[in-house]
Amino acid sequence: MSDSSEYDIAVIGAGISGIATAKCLLDDNFRIVVYEKTDHIGGLWQFTEDGYGVMRFTHINVSKQNYCFSDFPFPDNTPDYPSHVQMAEYIKSYAEHFDVIKHIKFNTKVEKIEKVPSGWKISTVKVDKKGNHLSGCKKSFAKFVAIATGHHALPNMPHFDGQETFRGRILHSVDYKDAITNGLVGKKVVVVGIGNSAVDVAVNVTELGGEKPISISTRSGAWIVPNYIQGYPTDHYACRLFFWLPWSVANFIFELIVQSVYGSPWHWNLNPKMRALQTQPTVSPTLVHHIQRRNIEIKPNISALQGNNVIFTDGSEIVADAVVCCTGYHIDLPFLDTNIKDLILDESSNKIKLFKNVFSPEIGASLAFIGFIQPASGGLLSVSETQARWFSELCKGTVKLPTAERMQQEFRQDQERSEGIFYASARHTIQQDPIVYNDEIAALFGAKPQLWKHPSIAWNLIVGTCGAAQYRLQGPHKWDRAKEIVHSVPITPLMHYGTMLIIVLLVIFTFFLFLKIWF
Ligand SMILES: Cc1cc2nc3c(=O)[nH]c(=O)nc-3n(C[C@H](O)[C@H](O)[C@H](O)COP(=O)(O)OP(=O)(O)OC[C@H]3O[C@@H](n4cnc5c(N)ncnc54)[C@H](O)[C@@H]3O)c2cc1C
Ligand SMILES: NC(=O)c1ccc[n+]([C@@H]2O[C@H](COP(=O)([O-])OP(=O)(O)OC[C@H]3O[C@@H](n4cnc5c(N)ncnc54)[C@H](OP(=O)(O)O)[C@@H]3O)[C@@H](O)[C@H]2O)c1
Repeated sequence: MSDSSEYDIAVIGAGISGIATAKCLLDDNFRIVVYEKTDHIGGLWQFTEDGYGVMRFTHINVSKQNYCFSDFPFPDNTPDYPSHVQMAEYIKSYAEHFDVIKHIKFNTKVEKIEKVPSGWKISTVKVDKKGNHLSGCKKSFAKFVAIATGHHALPNMPHFDGQETFRGRILHSVDYKDAITNGLVGKKVVVVGIGNSAVDVAVNVTELGGEKPISISTRSGAWIVPNYIQGYPTDHYACRLFFWLPWSVANFIFELIVQSVYGSPWHWNLNPKMRALQTQPTVSPTLVHHIQRRNIEIKPNISALQGNNVIFTDGSEIVADAVVCCTGYHIDLPFLDTNIKDLILDESSNKIKLFKNVFSPEIGASLAFIGFIQPASGGLLSVSETQARWFSELCKGTVKLPTAERMQQEFRQDQERSEGIFYASARHTIQQDPIVYNDEIAALFGAKPQLWKHPSIAWNLIVGTCGAAQYRLQGPHKWDRAKEIVHSVPITPLMHYGTMLIIVLLVIFTFFLFLKIWF
């Protein structure tokens, strides 16, 4: 059956990536539809008792200035790190403000998209909360499709030797809500992994009455990054100057700063196998506090499960009631035909083969992947939005993609660069530094802030993090409040005075060098 609907552009998913995409496309007056399989917007920021997404206590781990839409700042009284409730309200108010909601078809799951000569045929079904089909398949057509279905829904579940014999429970963090809901109060828990989910789960179990110490088992270790450094949100230190530094110097500085707050990670048995900037930051204000109180202990990888016991690779073992696998997620694109999926995703390695993580060189601009990035130093939100604006310009035809050969060549270069920087792990295959990435993508359609065009805030653009609004200073749909918002994002004293000191020292050095040469 066909609903005879034809659109310029179909967006799949109404999380932050899909909502940002829809808004940017509406700015350009496209006829759009957004398909969302649940009954709500916000994707994983909308807490549900039975779905994937945030835990009952999740706060964003990037500051509100960097994790926001570029032309819609959070209300002034929002804390630096909003809760998931504040996040969900904020996304809703954005969607209402820009009139996105009326374009969303809720409870509508995209089952399949197929390439047809002048665009894409989209097959959808109506579903209930549990995903049961409520209708037959409907078909619609769009010239362009944006896939914004997220990459944190399909759990990566490890298999442990002897796990069939284990008498405790094994669960994944995707099903974790809090220690009470999950029945872990008074229980001995082993948490696997040391990403943000692992640390959140371990701290929550310990604070809600799990049997102490809670064990975190990690095979790669971690640098634990504080929420604040010298009173400023840690991501406020991410600025252009920092990324202009040679990589080893930037790493050295970041490690020094982190250690000035928490001391050496080896002292806490965190034993990172990588440099601090080689991995996704695990941000926690309380993990080290709980380690020093012996509420949480760090263990090596699990070698086997046996009966009631969890056995670690150092030979130690503990009796445990539950193993919570906070082992991340797989990228999942079930609605793509195999021939298209093979062009885009290597499921075995969790790698995508997309030009700038957005377009397949073989397919071109008609199919965009929005939000398929793991941000290293700031949030995904501004990244998805920059990708969406680029996509909209491509749909309008104001900019063009390079040839397929050129895209493939750049893709290979980007891949090599990324593999040279980030620690080899399935969680880092789509890792990017948001400022570096956003600058690169925004430059493709004229929205990269050019210092000489904004002299009054040039210093902020060099040593400040500036927030998402910096990408509305110029280019299509620039925003007249952008400069004021950028100006309001604080510059950290370390970057401000540190940079001034270096400049003064360089001037003095040059002066004496000049004197020596001439006299
Ligand atoms: C617990 C948790 C906390 C996080 N916290 C942060 C953070 O603090 N900072 C940060 O930068 N990142 C964080 N992330 C990463 C997070 O993935 C992104 O920041 C972001 O919210 C993802 O948004 P998205 O719109 O791309 O995907 P999602 O929020 O997953 O939204 C995808 C939407 O697509 C819909 N959908 C999927 N398939 C279909 C289909 N076939 N048909 C129709 N609709 C479909 C889904 O129902 C969903 O609404 C967190 C991730 C998790 C798991
Ligand atoms: N706002 C918040 O507070 C918050 C909370 C939770 C999650 N998040 C976000 O959600 C996303 C997912 O985070 P996540 O922590 O769920 O996943 P993740 O970042 O992918 O981390 C997975 C962890 O599990 C380990 N791991 C994976 N497979 C393993 C295996 N087979 N055996 C042992 N260890 C294994 C990884 O170690 P290796 O490095 O060795 O692979 C890593 O430590 C991230 O973007 C994160 O920032 C945010």
